[in-house]
Amino acid sequence: MSQRKSAVILGAQWGDEGKGKIVDVLSEKFDMVARYAGGHNAGHTVIIEGKKFVLQLIPCGVLRPGCKGVIGNGVVLDPMAFLSEVKKLKDVGLPIDGQLFISNRAQVILPYHRMIELAAENAPGRTKIGTTSRGIGPAYEDKMHRSGLRVVDLLNSALLRTHIQNACFEKNTIAHALFGTEPLDPKSMYEEYARAAEQIAPFVTDTAVMLNKAIDDGQKVMFEGAQGALLDIDHGTYPFVTSSSATAGGAVTGTGVGPTRIGTVIGVTKAYVTRVGEGPFPTEIHDDSADLLRARGQEYGAVTGRPRRCGWLDLPLLRYSNMINGTEWLVVTKMDVMDECVDIPVCTGYKINGQLTDVIPADMRGYESIVPVYTTLKGWNCSTEGITEFEKLPQLAQDYLKFLEKESGAKIGMVSTGPDRAQTMTLPAFAEALKA
Ligand code: IMP
Repeated sequence: MSQRKSAVILGAQWGDEGKGKIVDVLSEKFDMVARYAGGHNAGHTVIIEGKKFVLQLIPCGVLRPGCKGVIGNGVVLDPMAFLSEVKKLKDVGLPIDGQLFISNRAQVILPYHRMIELAAENAPGRTKIGTTSRGIGPAYEDKMHRSGLRVVDLLNSALLRTHIQNACFEKNTIAHALFGTEPLDPKSMYEEYARAAEQIAPFVTDTAVMLNKAIDDGQKVMFEGAQGALLDIDHGTYPFVTSSSATAGGAVTGTGVGPTRIGTVIGVTKAYVTRVGEGPFPTEIHDDSADLLRARGQEYGAVTGRPRRCGWLDLPLLRYSNMINGTEWLVVTKMDVMDECVDIPVCTGYKINGQLTDVIPADMRGYESIVPVYTTLKGWNCSTEGITEFEKLPQLAQDYLKFLEKESGAKIGMVSTGPDRAQTMTLPAFAEALKA
């Protein structure tokens, strides 16, 4: 990646593609890892020497000594979630001070965001999204409404007090009128958040300046996406999406680093597909194969513990995702989870009203009329767990990956064959590209 030192890494479908582990593995090659969207709705699981770390807000890069973590302006920050994650990392002896930074322009999630979300999700007549109930959507609503609280404002105690008083008055009134919710107390909220602000202050800086300076100095930055491309507020399966820009474009607006400074885009896809929450899922499996994948892949939400819906690889969707993100490299995770599949159907196209098409519908009616067209590949039926060289994979597993690569239009750079850092193969061309 000469002159292409920085990279965006993101989930290619609906999140949970296993980015956490891949960001962790790749962070060795980068100086900084910056989160650009979402909040503590993300769940990034990393296993290091058998020890499991689940990070929801803090970029996975901080697990590597020497790699700095940045929470960009595009993130919505729950101060309490942040502090409890910092504590967990400090408790296991990770050096966090001086390694982790929060944008002064990131928006703050406050308790009334969660209150409104919980009430609204269950209100009659509302489309249930199946959110993570972390207050993410309402915090982004306030941001766009220009009534949000940013981290820089959190640190200003006079402003914080007035903001909480006014916001509580408004939100309590709305929540009570619409949903009969009990009001929140602004006084205790202010006191709690003013205390949190003091602990957060040392982490806060202008991270746009910091990141651009780092790039000027020849450092490499990895922009870590949260959720997945099809959960993006603009490009995803609206309204069953998250409230931020999960696609590669979000890396630019969510950190303040211009597009000309980002060298490549790496999409992470499982060898199959999963989704949590509601929303369309053309290749969802409704037979025993779903249970097999769920059990072998431990497909339960890292944040909410909900069982994930499982499906076969959807190539039209992956091609679309690669297009909107400009994905150059793909990382295929959880290859080993498919070791026991006898046959592996792969969706190669959609039939809508009898017509074969590659176009992803924009609306729910379109999704409902999709009949996926499958090509069935033979399963390899033996263990690929821990294999780290492509040639050592069984021939049928190699064939599966080659098919995926040819049909998706992006190059496979890495394959993950187990949850541990070590159970990862890096293909030679990608290894070469990473050396720059
Ligand atoms: P929200 O982000 O909590 O508003 O939830 C909106 C939708 O995005 C729901 O379907 C969630 O299940 C989904 N979602 C949010 N974060 C993640 C994630 O990290 N992985 C997978 N799905 C997610």
